[in-house]
Amino acid sequence: MSDKKLWAGRFSEPTDAFVEAFTASVEFDKRLAPYDIQGSIAHAMMLAAQGVLTEDEKNAIITGLTAILQKVENDEFEWSVQLEDVHMNIEAALTADIGDAGKKLHTGRSRNDQVATDVRLWLRHELNLIDAELDRLLAGLLDIAEREADTILPGFTHLQTAQPITFGHHMMAWYEMLERDISRFDDCAKRLNQMPLGAAALAGTTFPINREHTAQLLGFSEPCRNSLDAVSDRDFAIEFTAAASILMMHLSRMSEELIIWSSAQFGFITLSDSFCTGSSIMPQKKNPDVPELIRGKSGRIFGHLMALLTLMKSQPLAYNKDNQEDKEPLFDAVDNVKGSLKVFADMIPAITCRPERMRAAALQGFATATDLADYLVRNGIPFRDAHEVVGKSVAYCVDKGCDLAELSLDELKQFSDAIGGDVFDYLTLEGSVAARDHIGGTAPNQVRFAIEQARLRAEAKHAAS
Ligand code: ARG
Repeated sequence: MSDKKLWAGRFSEPTDAFVEAFTASVEFDKRLAPYDIQGSIAHAMMLAAQGVLTEDEKNAIITGLTAILQKVENDEFEWSVQLEDVHMNIEAALTADIGDAGKKLHTGRSRNDQVATDVRLWLRHELNLIDAELDRLLAGLLDIAEREADTILPGFTHLQTAQPITFGHHMMAWYEMLERDISRFDDCAKRLNQMPLGAAALAGTTFPINREHTAQLLGFSEPCRNSLDAVSDRDFAIEFTAAASILMMHLSRMSEELIIWSSAQFGFITLSDSFCTGSSIMPQKKNPDVPELIRGKSGRIFGHLMALLTLMKSQPLAYNKDNQEDKEPLFDAVDNVKGSLKVFADMIPAITCRPERMRAAALQGFATATDLADYLVRNGIPFRDAHEVVGKSVAYCVDKGCDLAELSLDELKQFSDAIGGDVFDYLTLEGSVAARDHIGGTAPNQVRFAIEQARLRAEAKHAAS
C-alpha cells in the first residue's frame, strides 16, 4: 500500500518528518475504525441510491471495507503514521484493495463531517455500555438497601453525629444521585444523535445527496441542521464529560464514605478482600485501594472537561485542527468512567455490614437529642425552650459520661416537668428512625417504599427500551 499523502496534489515539498508525526492522530483515532467503516458504508449506500456511485462501485466498496474491518478486528491491519489518521489509512487501504472505486468513496464528504460522525457513533455506543453498568450498580444498591433497611447507624452533618438513620436510607441517597446521572447521560445521548455527514468540509456539497437516508442507515434521529455547526461543534463531547464529571464526583463521595466506614475506627463495613490490597511493610494492613483510586480518578475526568471547554472556547467556525485534540480526553474519560462503574458495581454487593458497630456508634454523640426536643414540643414546650432543655440535659450527660437514654426519669425531669415515662420510647434509636415516617424520611417502611418505587421506575425503563 502506498503511503503517498491523499492530499499531496498541491504540495511540492514533503512534510517535515517530525511535523508528520506531530500532526498525526492515527495512534489514538484508530479505535474509531469500526465506526469510520460503518459511516463509510452508509455513505456509499446513499451515494449509490442517489445515482452518484454505480451498484458495482458500491458493492466493491462494501466488500472492501468489510474485509478491512475484519483485518482491524484481527489486529492485522497495518496502520501508517504517514497516512495521518484513521480515515486516510482506511481509504488508502480500500483503494489499494479495490482500485478506483475506493477513490470515489470520498465523493460528497470531507474528513470534517466524517470524523464528527465517527466520534458521535462511537460515543453513542459507549453511552449504552455506561448505561448498562449504571443499571447494574443501581440494582446492587437496591439489594443492599433492602437487606439493610432496618440497620441503624449515626447520620452525620459536619461529620459529627447528627441523628440516627438507616443504612438502607443511606444507600437510597446514593441511588438518587446515580439515577440523576443516568438521566444526564440519556439527555446527552439525545442531543448527540444528529448526523454531521453531508456537511462535507463546512458548507455542504454540490452532489445530490440524501442526508435523511444516511441518517436512517446509521440510526441517527436526523441530520445536523447546519453544516458549519455540524463539523465544528464538540459540545456533545463537553456535555458527556460534564455528566461524567458529576458522576465521578458522586462515585468519589461514595468512595470516601466506604473508606471512612471500613477504617478500624468506624468499622461499619468490611470491604471484600478482592477490592483491597495489602501493604508491603505493614502486615496488618488491608487498604481500600479501589475506592481510593476511583476518588483519585475523578480528578482526571474533571481535567478532561476543562481541556475540552478550553479546546472549544476560542475557535472560529468551522472546523479547525484543534478539534483533533478532542479525542484523547474523551476516550480517556469514557474508559475510566466505564472502569470505575464496573468495579463499583462489582464491589457494592460484596460489602458486609457490621450492624453492631453502627449501633454502638449511633449510641454515642446524643443522636436522639432532636427526638427529645420534638417530644417536649409535642408536650406543649415551645421549640426554642425545648432546644435549651435538651442542651442542658446533654451537658449533664457529657459530665456524667453517659447517653440521654441512660438517664433516669428523675434525672431527666430536673430539666423539664413536661418529661414523662414515655420519653424512653423516643430516646431509643428504633423509635427515632421509625418516627421519621413520611416520603423521603429514614423510617424503615419509607425506605422499603422508596425501594419499591425505584424498582418500578427501573422496570418501566426496561420495558420502554
Ligand atoms: N484527524 C482529524 C481530526 O481528528 C480529522 C479531520 C481532519 N480534517 C482536516 N481538515 N484536516 O480532527
